[in-house]
Amino acid sequence: MSLIQLLELPAFGDGRGDLVSIEAGKHIPFQIKRVYCLFNLGDHPRGMHSHRKLQQLAFCVHGSCRFVLDDGARREDVVLSGPAKGLLIGNLIWREMHDFTDDCVIMVLASEHYDEADYIRDYDTFLEVVRGKAV
Ligand code: TYD
Repeated sequence: MSLIQLLELPAFGDGRGDLVSIEAGKHIPFQIKRVYCLFNLGDHPRGMHSHRKLQQLAFCVHGSCRFVLDDGARREDVVLSGPAKGLLIGNLIWREMHDFTDDCVIMVLASEHYDEADYIRDYDTFLEVVRGKAV
């Protein structure tokens, strides 16, 4: 199965514009405890970490960017653009974000409150954890 799991939201467009909606418990396989946005992004890649437990759903609500996901064995990427398509990012997946357009705004729905202890910020440590050598 591909690492890239995309969730397509139903769009309700009419002559006045477009609308997409996302409902907790219906479209998302976790309870939402936190929402955050990334914006004013430049040339620096973001992410470059994994989470021990956290699950997330990321949307590029404006502009576009490229997500890289890595499970320690495979590395795949996908370009996200627009609010109707979300990328599911499970726990113990290394993620990187690259190639932001100037107008890029990323919105992330997260299953847990912010907890720095949940982060794995070192790639070699991530590999050790996913290969079962450390927890
Ligand atoms: P970080 O997750 O490292 O950013 P990214 O992975 O997008 O490059 O977060 C950057 C900073 O913001 C870091 O100091 C932690 C802080 N932060 C919070 O306080 N709360 C949050 O919900 C998030 C996502 C980050």
